[in-house]
Amino acid sequence: MKQLNWGIIGLGKMARIFAEDLVQVETARLYAAASRTIDKATAFATDFNAEKAYSSYEELIEDEKIDVVYIATPHAFHFDLAMQSLRAKKHVLCEKPMCMNVQQTKELIAEAKKQKRFLMEAIWTRFMPTTKKLLELLNENRIGKLISVEADFGFKPKMNLESRLFKKSLGGGSLLDIGIYPVFLSLLCLGKPSKINALARKTTTGVDYSCYMLFDYATEEKAILKSTFENQTPCEAELFGTKGSIKLHSRFHHSEQLEVLDEQRNTVEIFELPYQGNGYIHEIEEVNSCIQQGKTESNLLSHQFSLDLVKILEDVKKQIGLTY
Ligand SMILES: NC(=O)c1ccc[n+]([C@@H]2O[C@H](COP(=O)([O-])OP(=O)(O)OC[C@H]3O[C@@H](n4cnc5c(N)ncnc54)[C@H](OP(=O)(O)O)[C@@H]3O)[C@@H](O)[C@H]2O)c1
Repeated sequence: MKQLNWGIIGLGKMARIFAEDLVQVETARLYAAASRTIDKATAFATDFNAEKAYSSYEELIEDEKIDVVYIATPHAFHFDLAMQSLRAKKHVLCEKPMCMNVQQTKELIAEAKKQKRFLMEAIWTRFMPTTKKLLELLNENRIGKLISVEADFGFKPKMNLESRLFKKSLGGGSLLDIGIYPVFLSLLCLGKPSKINALARKTTTGVDYSCYMLFDYATEEKAILKSTFENQTPCEAELFGTKGSIKLHSRFHHSEQLEVLDEQRNTVEIFELPYQGNGYIHEIEEVNSCIQQGKTESNLLSHQFSLDLVKILEDVKKQIGLTY
C-alpha cells in the first residue's frame, strides 16, 4: 500500500493525541502541520517529525503533496476548512461534529462527490473493537429484541467562558461536544427516532450546560441519553433487550470492556477488547484503506449516517432552543 501524506490543521489537544497515533500507522505519513502561529506549527512538526510547518491553514490545504487533511479546530470552523480542502482536491477526515447543521453537511457531501474525494466525520467510536463486538452480539440476537439504549457522557471542565466548550461562536455546549456520542450510539443501534424530547440547562453564554434526551422509535424502543459539563458522570452505556443486556464500560465511547448479561441463563460474560494506541489507529486505518480503494465514503461511517446524526442533533437543538 502507498503511504498517504497527511496534514493536520488546528494544533490543540486533539491534534496531538491524534498525531501520536498517526505516526504509528504504516500506511500514513504525517507530512505537515498548520497552526495560526508559526512557533506552534514548528514545535508540533519537530515533535512528530513532520516535513512541513505552516503558519496558515490555507498554505497547508494548497500543498500539492498532501493527500489527506485532518481538521481538529473548534467545531464552528470545520465546514469552511473541510470545504476548502475538498475544493483543493484533498481527502478529508474532519473532527466531530463535522458540521454545525444539516445544510452544511449536505453541501460538504455534495462537494466530496463532485471532487471525487473521501470525506468522513471522525467518530473514532465507530472503529473501536468494542463497537464491532457490540454489533456482532446484536446481530446474533444475544439479548433478544432491543428495548432501550441508555448512555451518559459527563465531565466537569473549568468554567472558562472563552473556551471552545462554552463559547457560542466556537460551537460550545455539551450536546455538540460530548452529547454526540450517546446520540451516535442510539443511531447506530436503533436507527432514526420517530420522536425526540429534550431539555437543557443553559450556561450564561447561551449554550447547553447539560442536555437530557428521550427518543422514541416507530417500533417502540426508547433511548435515554444525557450529556453534561456540570458533573463527572459514569460515562457508561447499557443496551437492554428482551433476553438480557449489554454494558459498555466507562468511558463507553472508547470502552475496552463489554459485559453481556444473559437473563435466561443468569450468566455474565465479559469481553476484554483493547484498542490500539490512543484509540485513533483503527479510524486512521479505515480512512487510508478507503482512499486506497478509491472510495469517497466509508461503509462503516457513511455520509448518510453523518446526515442522520446531524439531523437528530438539529432536532434536539430546536427542542432546547439552541441556535448558533
Ligand atoms: N475524537 C475525539 O476523541 C475528540 C476529542 C477531543 C476533541 N475532539 C474534537 O476536536 C476538535 C478540537 O478539540 P480540542 O479539544 O483539540 O480543542 P483545542 O485544544 O481548543 O484546540 C483547537 C485548536 O483549533 C485551532 N483554532 C482555530 N481557531 C480557533 C479559535 N478561534 N479559538 C480556539 N482555537 C482555534 C487552534 O489551533 P492553532 O492555534 O494551532 O491554530 C486550537 O489549538 C473539536 O471539534 C472537538 O469536538 C475530538
